[in-house]
Amino acid sequence: MRIDSLAWRLPTFAFAAALLAMPALAQDAPTQEAPAPQAPAAKEEAPKPPARPQLDVIFVPTPQAAVNRMLELARVGPNDFVIDLGSGDGRIAITAGKRGARAMGVDLDPQRIADARKNLAASGVSDRVSFVQQNLFETDLSKATVLTMYLLPHLNLKLRPQILDLKPGTRVVSHDFTMGEWQPDVFEDVNGRDLMFWIVPAKVGGNWKVEAGRQRFDISLKQEFQEIKGTAQIGNRRVPLTRTRLEGDRIEFTALLGRRPLHFQGRVEGDRMTGRILGGERGDRRGRRWNAERQ
Ligand SMILES: C[S@@+](CC[C@H](N)C(=O)[O-])C[C@H]1O[C@@H](n2cnc3c(N)ncnc32)[C@H](O)[C@@H]1O
Repeated sequence: MRIDSLAWRLPTFAFAAALLAMPALAQDAPTQEAPAPQAPAAKEEAPKPPARPQLDVIFVPTPQAAVNRMLELARVGPNDFVIDLGSGDGRIAITAGKRGARAMGVDLDPQRIADARKNLAASGVSDRVSFVQQNLFETDLSKATVLTMYLLPHLNLKLRPQILDLKPGTRVVSHDFTMGEWQPDVFEDVNGRDLMFWIVPAKVGGNWKVEAGRQRFDISLKQEFQEIKGTAQIGNRRVPLTRTRLEGDRIEFTALLGRRPLHFQGRVEGDRMTGRILGGERGDRRGRRWNAERQ
């Protein structure tokens, strides 16, 4: 036999020997009918891993010292409901829970939600903190008394209209990133981390009719976020409002309507303001009442 012909036969021989060495197969082999020819089986597709969600920002945790300060700035306590937008490993919501608040963390990444839930289980505050896998831009924020975030400037800006429509007085803290021209009420640097704090202002821009006892006058307010300025019109006299201040639903302004400046302090509730007038710069704390209706 020529060497090349032996070489051709060797694999066949080896394959038959291997077959005989497998008892079950060897026994069955002679009696089995040859299988009917079949079309080649369709190639089975390997199960695809679940698609990774398209994140707007990657996970980078806020250092714990900054987390603590963020929640101090917002004075988070047992009466609060905190929502952390993009909650990562859950540290902000869990720390809020440890301060007695109810808190919810929202993250689009299932891995982050799994990590946060694991951390929550070890934290002792599972009764008041939860984590939900969802897009922060599709999250109902209306129940929050405090919002926290460590996102990016353009994401803060995208959220801003929704935040400004929240209940006046809602507190907002952002790690590192601004809200565009909406200036923070407090800015702090904690170990090189910029923390910014805002209070959602009531919407007061426009014209109001004011009643204070027998006195009637109009005020006109211009508002840019929490900054207000305006004038009061009494008869044919127009005077500027000074010492204006708007913090959440609390409003203050001073007007020189008579001989002495009067300082108005009040609360805004939709289209109505009510409060007390303090006579002069340092007046009686229990001043007479005033109210205003939006025109
Ligand atoms: C910079 S980390 C902040 C984590 C945490 N808040 C903290 O300060 O430690 C941002 C988080 O946002 C999440 N994220 C990104 N885009 C999101 C979206 N559209 N909806 C919800 N979460 C999102 C990321 O998965 C990430 O965990």
